[in-house]
Amino acid sequence: TNPSEVSWLGTPISELKRMPECGEPLSPLKDVPGHHTTDLLKKDKVPVPYPTRFQDAWNDVHVKMPCSSRNLFPIEDEVKAQPIPLLKAGMNHSITMSQEQVACLLANAFFCTFPRRNSRKTEYSNYPDINFFRLFEGSSAKKIEKLKTLMCYFKSVTEKMPTGLVTFTRKSLDKPPNWKSSQTPLTKLHITCEGTIEDDGYGMLQVDFANRFVGGGVTGSGLVQEEIRFLINPELIVSRLFTEALDHNECLIITGTQQYSKYTGYAQTYQWGGSHLDTTPSDGWQRRCTSIVAIDALQFRNFLEQFRPDRLNRELNKAYCGFARPEEKSQNLAAVATGNWGCGVFGGDTRLKALLQMLAAAEAGRDVAYFTFGDSQLMTDVHNMHSFLIQKNISVYDLLGQYYSSECKNCLGRRPDVSLYSFIYQQVNSSVAPDDSNMGSARQ
Ligand code: AR6
Repeated sequence: TNPSEVSWLGTPISELKRMPECGEPLSPLKDVPGHHTTDLLKKDKVPVPYPTRFQDAWNDVHVKMPCSSRNLFPIEDEVKAQPIPLLKAGMNHSITMSQEQVACLLANAFFCTFPRRNSRKTEYSNYPDINFFRLFEGSSAKKIEKLKTLMCYFKSVTEKMPTGLVTFTRKSLDKPPNWKSSQTPLTKLHITCEGTIEDDGYGMLQVDFANRFVGGGVTGSGLVQEEIRFLINPELIVSRLFTEALDHNECLIITGTQQYSKYTGYAQTYQWGGSHLDTTPSDGWQRRCTSIVAIDALQFRNFLEQFRPDRLNRELNKAYCGFARPEEKSQNLAAVATGNWGCGVFGGDTRLKALLQMLAAAEAGRDVAYFTFGDSQLMTDVHNMHSFLIQKNISVYDLLGQYYSSECKNCLGRRPDVSLYSFIYQQVNSSVAPDDSNMGSARQ
């Protein structure tokens, strides 16, 4: 086989678990401590706000609402019955609201009505921007395409209001795994140079290559993986209203958003690609079975820095926080759909990050679908490393530390002479990369 024809390696994607098939039935939706819900569920109807009368809360633990009597700008439409709690740093808390409520909040964001949110110098300085004012600045082609994508969403929901719910969960990791002593074997890997997380990872836990301010530059000029996802699934943007900047040990999980637009291109070449009909099934809480986890990688300006043990641990814990669901059985966990997390704008090394994400997924008991975004060499290299580590049954964490101390520490800014994967192969069996002549047989 011509290696260039190989588009995937490892476990066939059909063998990885997806929602809703792999999940367990949900318990009834309730407003309980730790979970705010603003809706009462009625099958196939737009859910009713809960409680039905608006309670104003103009304080520092709830979102200040445009309709509050304390708001200086008089706005008449009533938005919500219950105040929306802020998901502050360190909180483990969920908010469930209807797609209709999300639409109403996003309409307010579009018209820039959220009070105290038009300047970063205020009480919300540690929150992402929610009002869309920056989208209307300038006349770049990128912003026009972003606005087209958002208008497609508003057109869709004003023509036919969706009837589902969306849950936003902020989660922190209180007890990181002991990476050094872990003997957990790697889980299954499907790796491909074709396709995307959002298209081919349906039903899986889809990674958002996030900024600590979730959504990154979506309401400004950013237009890479995270921003694109927030544009085609605009309900994600509402998380910016109440999610304080993520800490090192935190993530945000968003379940139930719908995709309204298609797109072509990427970054400078991004274009709105027309409306999208989302056929993803819904779960017992009327949420689309689309779970997205926002995890922010560290940004590296110096290549060597990412190999420092404290940085390795930070990235492992961040990914683990995003992937682990200790309250659920491993057999009920969908695979993680990911790719070059932290390796575009944030400057990370793809081969290191792939390894770290595989370790975190293994510890969390999830298989991995990895999308290399066109890089077939990376597909081959990561697949070979994964097979090698499984075959030799070694825990690679210590080797990462050794790589730093023997190859990186004294480089003085140069790139190391030996690549990470070569180093691992050398250390384990004092030989070069394993024979990959059987690569072409992966499809058999
Ligand atoms: N599916 C799979 N892989 C993808 C996709 C996709 N849909 N889109 C991009 N990639 P980047 P970062 C690959 O730069 O480095 C944002 O502003 C592609 O190879 O978005 O973590 C955030 O708000 C790409 O180069 O993620 C943060 O501020 C790589 O993923 C910042 O960027 C990394 O995508 C995060 O930067």
